[in-house]
Amino acid sequence: MKKAPSVGLSSLSKKTYTYINMNPLQRKEYTITSEKEKLLLDTLQKRTDTEAKRLLSYLALPDLTRTPHSPLYAVVQRLLSLPTLKDFDLITIPEIIPSSEVFDLFNFPKDHPARTSSDSYYVEGGYILRPHPSVMWKYYLDLPEVQQKLEENGRLGVMCYGKVYRRDEIDWQHSNVLHQIDGLYIVRKDIQNVVQQDLEAVLLEVAESLFGKNLKSRFSVDHFPYTDPSIEMVISWRDQWVEILGSGIPHPQVIKNLGLDPEVYTGWAFGFGADRLAMLKMQIPDIRLLRSTDERVTRQLTNIDNVYEPVSKYPPVVRDISFVVTDSELNINQYYEMIREVVGDEYVEEVKFLDEYRNAERWGEGRTSYTIRIVYRNLERTLTNEEVDALHSKLMTETEQRYKAAIRK
Ligand code: PHE
Repeated sequence: MKKAPSVGLSSLSKKTYTYINMNPLQRKEYTITSEKEKLLLDTLQKRTDTEAKRLLSYLALPDLTRTPHSPLYAVVQRLLSLPTLKDFDLITIPEIIPSSEVFDLFNFPKDHPARTSSDSYYVEGGYILRPHPSVMWKYYLDLPEVQQKLEENGRLGVMCYGKVYRRDEIDWQHSNVLHQIDGLYIVRKDIQNVVQQDLEAVLLEVAESLFGKNLKSRFSVDHFPYTDPSIEMVISWRDQWVEILGSGIPHPQVIKNLGLDPEVYTGWAFGFGADRLAMLKMQIPDIRLLRSTDERVTRQLTNIDNVYEPVSKYPPVVRDISFVVTDSELNINQYYEMIREVVGDEYVEEVKFLDEYRNAERWGEGRTSYTIRIVYRNLERTLTNEEVDALHSKLMTETEQRYKAAIRK
C-alpha cells in the first residue's frame, strides 16, 4: 500500500485553514446515466394529467449551475477551484431516483416528512425528483474505480451540483426548483481523525472566497439523518443572519449502508444553496430574477462581483383569499403548488399565510379558516387589475373545488 499523503497546513493572514492536499489524486469527472430515468421520462411525456406536465416543466428548466452567463455558474466555478476542493472529483447523477436510495440508505426514519408527497415530487413507482445532490454519495462510492482509489490512497473527495426539487413556500428567496452544490470527503481514520473544526475550516474557505475575509459567520447545530454531528452555517448579511448551508460528519450507519466500514472511515460533507449564495453575493432581491430574460437584468448578472442594481420594479397588486376548509383536505405545500399551477410563478411574488384560525362553534369540528395574501407582481411588466382579478378568481374557484373549501366573502 502506498504511503498516505499528508495534510498540508497553510497559515493565512487572520485565520488558519487546513487545506486538504489530495496529492496524488487529481480531479476526474464521472457521469452516471440511468435507463430507468429515460423510461420514466418517456412515460411522463405520454401522460396527459397536470401533475405529469408540471414535473416535465420543472425538469425542463435550465440548470443554472451549467449556464455560463448565470451567477450560479460563477459561484460553482469559484468553489471548484478552491485550494481544498480543486482536486475533488466531479460527479453528475440522474435527476429521477428511487426514494429508497434517497431515504432508506440515508437513514431517514420511516415517518420523516421528507418522504411524503407533500414535500417531495413523486414520479412513479417510488421514484422521485432528487431533493438534494447528497444522494451522490451512493453513486460515487458504488463506482469500482473509486473504491479502488480509496483502497490505494485512503482518501477521496467529490463534488456534485445541479438542480434539486422540493415543494416549498413562495417568497423572494424560495423556489421549488433550486440548485445546490454538495461536497463529500472520505478518509481512513488512521490518516486523519476528522473533527468538526476540519469541516468548519472548509466551509469558511468557501464562504470567504465569495464574501471576503471580513465575513462574520457562525456555526450551529442542525439535524440531518445522514450526518452526526450536523452543522449549519449562517453568515451575517445586511444586519441579518442567513443560513447558507447544511453539513456534517457522515453518520456511521450511512457509511455502512454505502458499503464502507465506519470503524475505518470517516469524513465530512456539505451542501450549499447555490441560488442563495449568488443572491446574497450580488444582493439580488428576488429569486425569480435568476431566470429573468430581461436584458437589463441579465446584463448585470454576468459578473458575480457586481452588486445588483434593481431595475424599476413594477407595482404589486395585492389580493387576499379567505376560506374555511376541513383540515384533512388541505396541505399547505400542496396549496403553494396549486398556486404555481393555476396562477404561475411569474405572476406571484409572495404568498403569506396571514391568519389561521380554528373555531369549532363557527366552522365545525376539525375545520380551519385561513386568510392568505397573494402579492401579484411580474418582473417584466405591470399587471392590470383586470388581469389579476381573473387570476385571483381562478384561484378561488380552484380552492373551492379541489379542497371543498367555503370561500369567505
Ligand atoms: N442535503 C442538505 C440540504 O439539502 C445539506 C447537507 C449536505 C447536509 C451534506 C449534510 C451533509 O440542506
